[in-house]
Amino acid sequence: MTTKEAVLQALRSCSGQYISGEELSTQLNVSRTSIWKAIKALREEGHTIEAATNNGYMLIHNNRRLTESEIRQGLSENNRNIEIHVYDSVTSTNSEAKRLALEGAADGTLVVSGQQTAGRGRLGRSFYSPKEGIYLSVIIRPRFDVSKSVLITCAAAVAVAESVKEIAGKDARIKWVNDVYVDDGKVCGILTEGMTDFESGQIEAVIIGIGVNTDVSNFPDDLKRIAGAVDGDYSASELAGAIASRTIDYAHNIEERTFIDSYRSMSTVIGKKITVYKGQYKVNPEDEIEGAAAEVKTIDDDGRLIVVYEDGTEEALSSGEITIRM
Ligand code: BTN
Repeated sequence: MTTKEAVLQALRSCSGQYISGEELSTQLNVSRTSIWKAIKALREEGHTIEAATNNGYMLIHNNRRLTESEIRQGLSENNRNIEIHVYDSVTSTNSEAKRLALEGAADGTLVVSGQQTAGRGRLGRSFYSPKEGIYLSVIIRPRFDVSKSVLITCAAAVAVAESVKEIAGKDARIKWVNDVYVDDGKVCGILTEGMTDFESGQIEAVIIGIGVNTDVSNFPDDLKRIAGAVDGDYSASELAGAIASRTIDYAHNIEERTFIDSYRSMSTVIGKKITVYKGQYKVNPEDEIEGAAAEVKTIDDDGRLIVVYEDGTEEALSSGEITIRM
């Protein structure tokens, strides 16, 4: 941990109270000058740190601010050194991650933004990305083959649901394949994209893009009907770090499928009657398109949805869209 990160941790642990420069320097066993430099760097990064003569420093908690040092604190030990790019606003973190991947960005590189001006969703849809949200993309240099792509998306959904529980204390559930819900609202969408080397036909990088709503009160009415938010008093940076870290760990160990039992237990669709849409998709929620009635038997170890149609035939779905019938 760098001095800057240690100072941030110490300031957070005495939240709402001042801590003197001397105390910080004794606690962290570094010079007063190093403390001063760390405070300066943290302020430059966007943290508000008040200084009062004779009292020392106090961190003013802004729990929705995305800063590199706080995101790093949310990462597990083995991901502590990943490259992190933080923006106030970008077109799309997936597009930015793709650009970085083309320039040779390393496995595990993380792109985080507080807003997107051209957020992308699945099936060519746009993803509404106002500043009340956390948008992130992780670059994975695959150690697996393309057939694992559904699993990657399942892994990311579990990473989100577990992190939401850990950091924000909310129970999240997953609608196959990759929508995360809290109560009845969709709080997160995931878009996984592959970059293929045209000559070798090999996957060069997988970009896992994750968008989490933190407040939907200003969403347009049509989105408000389906969207939910991970609200409450938690650090957005910590949540971003926890999600990224779990996603990287699960992706690196995809063959072990350590997340698949959690995926099944958090599923909203197992045992439910659904409508399956294949080939054509709803662009708007109110679009009327033809689907086939089925019941979900289970989700297999490859993340495929095992459905039984009304005529008794069974199918394993790797992609497509479903709605739950009431
Ligand atoms: C969906 O629900 O259709 C998937 C939405 C995925 C949105 C995320 S936000 C971060 C990343 N950047 C994008 O442009 N899209 C993904």
